[in-house]
Amino acid sequence: MSDSPADLWSRLRQAASHQAGVHLRDQFAADPGRAERMSARSAGLFLDYSKNRIDDDALGLLFALADASDLRGAIDAMFGGERINSTEHRAVLHTALRAPADADIRVDGHNVVPDVHAELTHMTEFAEQVRSGAWRGHTGEAITDIVNIGIGGSDLGPRLVCDALRPLAPTGLRTHFVANVDAGRLNGLLRQLDRATTLFVVCSKSFSTQETLTNARSARAWFLRGGPTEADIGRHFVAVSTNAEAVSDFGIDPANMFGFWDWVGGRYSLWSAVGLSIMLQIGPAAFRELLAGAHAMDTHFRTAPWSENLPVLLALIGVWYVNGFGAATHMIAPYDHGLRQLPSFLQQLDMESNGKQTTRDGQPVGRATGPVVWGNSGINGQHAFYQLLHQGSQLVPADFVASLHSPDNTRPHHDIVLANCIAQAQALMMGRTADEARAEMVAEGLPPERIAELLPHRVFAGNRPTNLILLDALTPRTLGALLAMYEHKVFVQGVLWHVNSFDQWGVELGKQLARRIEAAFESGVMPAGADSSTCRLIALARAALHE
Ligand code: F6P
Repeated sequence: MSDSPADLWSRLRQAASHQAGVHLRDQFAADPGRAERMSARSAGLFLDYSKNRIDDDALGLLFALADASDLRGAIDAMFGGERINSTEHRAVLHTALRAPADADIRVDGHNVVPDVHAELTHMTEFAEQVRSGAWRGHTGEAITDIVNIGIGGSDLGPRLVCDALRPLAPTGLRTHFVANVDAGRLNGLLRQLDRATTLFVVCSKSFSTQETLTNARSARAWFLRGGPTEADIGRHFVAVSTNAEAVSDFGIDPANMFGFWDWVGGRYSLWSAVGLSIMLQIGPAAFRELLAGAHAMDTHFRTAPWSENLPVLLALIGVWYVNGFGAATHMIAPYDHGLRQLPSFLQQLDMESNGKQTTRDGQPVGRATGPVVWGNSGINGQHAFYQLLHQGSQLVPADFVASLHSPDNTRPHHDIVLANCIAQAQALMMGRTADEARAEMVAEGLPPERIAELLPHRVFAGNRPTNLILLDALTPRTLGALLAMYEHKVFVQGVLWHVNSFDQWGVELGKQLARRIEAAFESGVMPAGADSSTCRLIALARAALHE
């Protein structure tokens, strides 16, 4: 039988339809070695993928599909600095941001690693000054509050990492994030801040994002309203961007700008100067640990065979559900309070990367691609939406992410978290048969007619898949490895679907239309060609805005 991708895709669908009739309960019963065989570990992470509706044959097929899609060549091309972001003609080298100083990674013959490390040194010097109190605000006081103004990739990564590693922040230094242009967020925060001790980090790769620049202008106006002058701005506003000209036009001294490069995609940028807020909060040494963890995962991804390769396994299993089982969504459930922002971060990483239906060659993909990624804290979710996971009509594959050790291992809190994480994965997989449900109700002393009435409601089909990802503990190193693992997972899926995971043309139309609508609020002239619903809504909004 031929091993062309087309043949493998069709065999994959057949294999999935065969698996649809198999229950995980039976697979575990028949194979005592399943859990041990279907697990892998690297860089402080442990993956148990045994509770997936998959067998060795299906995995072999997926590995063959990875080979037929030239995954190896695609990995080499990315790490080698080739311009794999074809529509923007850019290299994709977030991996260079976490490479050691003696690495040699070239874009058009130029080794980018010294540039990366020079910028890391620049960030380090600044962060040390702010953290030690040597950097003074305009009244001579030390900085106590850092406000990251950015959105999308200039917000979600730093926000997640700062939240996860908050225990490493020195006392007296707080980090805040402003993304939404709704003034409720900025004004609410500014009310709590002192101009003399606040540092704004205006973070935007393009330095043209309307929400970020509007928030930054309002923050600057607030700062100047309270007594400081233009000359004081340099002590309280720094910028992170690839666009030095726009930073300077905004009024931020280029000496206070931290740069990065067009080969760093926004959603892959937390490892660059976009991570300045992270470094300010956790310190340069811990930031380098974060990079080291990501680099360890990069090395694992490049060198481990597919059968032991965490990102590859997660990616292939994800493709299995999307294309073999028609799963439309994928849930992320962190069982660690520090990781509660993980679903939001992964939504951008995954959905902005693989929310595509055109191949790299401009043809229709012809099959489903990136799923809807969603989720929330696992423990909270259990009391909100897990009912649908257990007994709803949709198949929702899920990743549960937990840490074996919590910062202080407070008991019984941590016991309860881990027990629930493991139990939910077990319940989703096992379900509850009619016999089990009946026996339970008999034990509860229910009369036969009540048992008959309740029985259909108390049966769970089970066979609901989960991956369990365990961190030894939530540290800069394991967090770096975890996020890099997901970056590579998304990359692998993009290779299999043959889409460019590094552009995002789909977000542009809404931005263009919003500019036209905003103009209509002023002029009262409806945008040319606007439909009746849009015109009516513009009129309603305009009336409210001009009241
Ligand atoms: O509009 C989407 C997007 O371009 C994301 O890809 C990006 O992370 C975000 O906006 C913010 O962009 P910037 O960092 O240029 O402000």
